[in-house]
Amino acid sequence: MNGVLGSCDLAHLRRRRSYKWTAYPGDVLPAFVAEMDFDVAEPIVEALSQAVGLSDFGYPNPTPYEGPGSHEGPGRHDVSWSRRSFGESFATFAATRWGWPVDPARVLVAPDVMTAIAEVLTAVTEPGAGVVINPPVYPPFFSRVSLSGRRWVQAPLARDEGGSYHLDLDALEAALAEDGVGAYLLCNPHNPVGRVWSRQDLLRVADLCLAYERWLLVDEIHSPLVMRGAEHVPVMSLDHEVTGRSFAFVSASKGWNIPGLKCAGVVPGSDAGSELLRPRWEALLPSHLGVLASVAAFDRSLSWLDAVVSQLDENRLLLSRLLAEQIPSLGYVAPEAGYLAWLDCRDAGLGSDPAELFLKSGRVALSPGPAFGEQGQGHARLNIGTSPALVGEAVSRMATALRRD
Ligand SMILES: Cc1ncc(COP(=O)(O)O)c(C=O)c1O
Repeated sequence: MNGVLGSCDLAHLRRRRSYKWTAYPGDVLPAFVAEMDFDVAEPIVEALSQAVGLSDFGYPNPTPYEGPGSHEGPGRHDVSWSRRSFGESFATFAATRWGWPVDPARVLVAPDVMTAIAEVLTAVTEPGAGVVINPPVYPPFFSRVSLSGRRWVQAPLARDEGGSYHLDLDALEAALAEDGVGAYLLCNPHNPVGRVWSRQDLLRVADLCLAYERWLLVDEIHSPLVMRGAEHVPVMSLDHEVTGRSFAFVSASKGWNIPGLKCAGVVPGSDAGSELLRPRWEALLPSHLGVLASVAAFDRSLSWLDAVVSQLDENRLLLSRLLAEQIPSLGYVAPEAGYLAWLDCRDAGLGSDPAELFLKSGRVALSPGPAFGEQGQGHARLNIGTSPALVGEAVSRMATALRRD
């Protein structure tokens, strides 16, 4: 592994106190929640250490003062970079990576992506409105929509013979056409199936949302982790009228593995969208440490990100090989982005929730497929955001579970 990622030493990892490392007894290998095992990028560590040294634990300032005198005084060289706002840093990153020109003034910061999504839904739809989602999908897409007093309407993904998932545009149109539907919540790249939707897909989605006058919300949290062979197309980079009624949700939390620092951004596609959100955003402060870390990520941690993406590329191929050798009954299509592998265990006869058996008999914790919707029955999600050695350990524990069954 590239040295900047650390070694993913298991004894060291078990000293972490995050959810991944405290949910199960010490003999279980955790490969469920979306946290990676790599060491965090050095510029992020520096930014956080500097904040610790300064007892800098106050409120975040979304628009730091940049006028005369802002960089004066001792230590100015240490802190000048940290005066960049989340919006400015994200805009530079988005322009460089994807050619997406973002107006930093339009970017609103929030504690996390799901809170921002819930808030936007509350702002743009009526209580009880339908929100279209594409299961199998990230479980909070169901729960946060319900908790916001809206109801989810399913337009399940379609699957081809090779096991690859696609947007089912007919199902999507039927769902968007339903009475009382107000919005479409799209996941791109998609969790858990790892698809990166094409420009053509997105243009079709855009046409449909425009035709049925639905708001388009796109969760792009996994976009920094798109791998070779796929291209991330930010919804706002489309030359399409629908962007005026769209919102993109972005964050450094998945790409740079800092979800516990609580910081995300929402990018409205129009001034009208911004104005709708502004009054609601007064109380939606992210964590100050999260902002500092996100700025360090977008501005100064790109070689670290490249190292992660190339490690994930290697891991997805390794998983393919290991499954073919040790558990050929499992269906797996390598993700195009991210570190979540969606495993089809239906031919292995492991019942509706295969993660149960992997945990009980293999002491490896995967995410249960049924949590992603009824389409997840017979499936499980494996986290491969770790070293090749630990990917190998996870597969060998799963194989052991199957032998014991
Ligand atoms: C698609 C998707 N959206 C949102 C989140 C959660 O993001 P946040 O912690 O910023 O709410 C995740 C976490 O794995 C995710 O996969």
